[in-house]
Amino acid sequence: MTDTNAPIGVFDSGIGGLTVMKEIMHQIPDEKIIYFGDTARVPYGSKSRETVTKFSRQIVHFLESQHVKAIVVACNTASAYALDELERETEVPIIGVVKPGARAASEVTKNGKIGVIATAATISSAIYSSYIKKKKPDVEVIERACPLFVPLVEEGLWRDPVTDEIARRYLAELIDIDIDTLVLGCTHYPLIRETIGRIMGERVTLVNPAYETARELKELLQREELLRKVRPALGDNQYQFYVSDASEKFKQFANSIIKYGILSAKTLNVEG
Ligand code: SIN
Repeated sequence: MTDTNAPIGVFDSGIGGLTVMKEIMHQIPDEKIIYFGDTARVPYGSKSRETVTKFSRQIVHFLESQHVKAIVVACNTASAYALDELERETEVPIIGVVKPGARAASEVTKNGKIGVIATAATISSAIYSSYIKKKKPDVEVIERACPLFVPLVEEGLWRDPVTDEIARRYLAELIDIDIDTLVLGCTHYPLIRETIGRIMGERVTLVNPAYETARELKELLQREELLRKVRPALGDNQYQFYVSDASEKFKQFANSIIKYGILSAKTLNVEG
């Protein structure tokens, strides 16, 4: 029987998944979390399905070795490319970020025109439009790859004229088409949400799959009777962070994203 006190495993290609972790910390504050950011191999969004699946599998093996009770694939590219295989291979419940985001977008739209921005990999998988259309067949889904957003975010250029200029170019077409809903289909994008929101204008609702994913995780843990009953004691390492490279840089970013006072991020090679 799974121990309800066991941690939840969360992983991403880098820092973007911290936007998901932040929502989980908010919505289920008693849970312990182990976060892994694959900072040595980011970005995933320009890599092949085989490579992303191999990387994701290695990280899942590490999280399983930590006896996690559930795993959150907090990376859209890994959710798009690897989730089905990971589900088949993994004993613990595992959820990705794409389905929750797609569901929310299908519920939010009023004019039936939904934009999705994501990495080249996620867009080429067409997974968002497929899930959105399953929920609401008569909507129009316009997908746009924004490959420069991840490196800009990883470089810390969250509020910068360069990011502004690139966002204007990427988003121009979506503004012309008059979408009313835009899915931030990459876990890095909520970190430049202010820029994206300003350019898209008030009429467009931004959907952040991070929030929806945390909600679905909570429902899943409730359903499986896996919710933790008491908050861990101080000093019980409620949140642990692992990265594959550049732990100091990660720590600085992590502190500005989740504002928890992270003291350390351990560097770990999961390639085995
Ligand atoms: C990336 O590593 O390229 C982005 C992660 C994501 O797709 O959420």
